[in-house]
Amino acid sequence: MIRPEGCKNFNMKTLLLTTEREDIEKAARIIRDGGLVAFPTETVYGLGANALDEEAVARVYKAKGRPSDNPMIVHISRASDIGQLTPMLSPDIVALIENFWPGPLTLVVKKKPGVPDITTGGLDTVAVRLPESQVALDLINAACCPIAAPSANLSGRPSPTRAGDVVQDLDGKIDAIIQGEDCRVGIESTVVDMTGDVPTVLRPGIITAEALEAAIGKRVVYDKSLKEAREHVALDPAHGVGESDFQPKSPGMKYRHYAPKADMLVVEGEREKVKAEIHRLKELNEKLGNSVGVIMFEEKAFIEAAHDFFAKLRDLDREGVDMIIAGALSDADGVGFAVMNRMLKSAGYNIVRV
Ligand code: TXA
Ligand code: MG
Repeated sequence: MIRPEGCKNFNMKTLLLTTEREDIEKAARIIRDGGLVAFPTETVYGLGANALDEEAVARVYKAKGRPSDNPMIVHISRASDIGQLTPMLSPDIVALIENFWPGPLTLVVKKKPGVPDITTGGLDTVAVRLPESQVALDLINAACCPIAAPSANLSGRPSPTRAGDVVQDLDGKIDAIIQGEDCRVGIESTVVDMTGDVPTVLRPGIITAEALEAAIGKRVVYDKSLKEAREHVALDPAHGVGESDFQPKSPGMKYRHYAPKADMLVVEGEREKVKAEIHRLKELNEKLGNSVGVIMFEEKAFIEAAHDFFAKLRDLDREGVDMIIAGALSDADGVGFAVMNRMLKSAGYNIVRV
């Protein structure tokens, strides 16, 4: 649903902006005035508001339909700005900043009192990210404030990786959308909790625990709820994981997420068997009058899978398929693990093994 150049606001309620300097200035003014602007980052599109303005942040929760205990990531444009948000920069935090910023890594650190509770969902920690996307950096710079930005989708829907996805979910609910390029990474940033003894990945992303370990020279673990969710499925494939069965440390990880409109099923196992089973299930369902969309990535094409996964879910929804069948990726690979985290959630942990 990306509009051709030159017919900017045709049929749209929300202001559509380009990445030109003038438009970035306009967007920055909206943020400074307490408004909401969706903008591209290298991971997914974000829905931005002044992170230090409680009313603006409250509007973000409302526009997304997001539970208010689910904290936001605060985006900055210079590494030194993290000092406004946290009193504590350990050598490990500094090493991660040096190695991975700007980029798709979010650091959870102790928060300073000036960061509003509403931004952090009442937690005494704050999640901070310095994105790599130039448009995002220009916007934060021009706004002259840190920008709180969850993914720019309605709560529960797949994250948006293209401006058209944002229009579909949030047109009429926010003040402006900056129409930039499609997102390079395609899944959200890695979130790592730096407040405990052992750095802990709360949300997997393309920067893997192994890459973090290499940068700081010590052990980094995945939050046990990430593995538990997986093991739970293994123990009880018929029932999947109940939303309240496990207690992740990252509040956002407990909600039903990324769900397409269609019913979704993941098929896992040896590749040829998976292909055959998907083919069988597709034919069977089509005979019964259901339209079926298939998501099957090339073997070991983890980066491509990350890039395409949310876009494919949204495209299949637009086609109006009744059912989506996806082939599981190997989650022995760190990026595969990150994509599988999203795939299993979008399928509501509905999985069959062959
Ligand atoms: O790539 C990204 O991170 C994108 C772009 C826009 O930057 N943003 C994004 O935001 O994915 P959101 O709100 O959709 O996801 C933020 C995640 C949630 O799972 C949230 O619970 C977690 O980060 N989070 C935020 N603050 C936290 C904190 N203080 N402690 C633990 N988890 C936190
Ligand atoms: Mg999100």
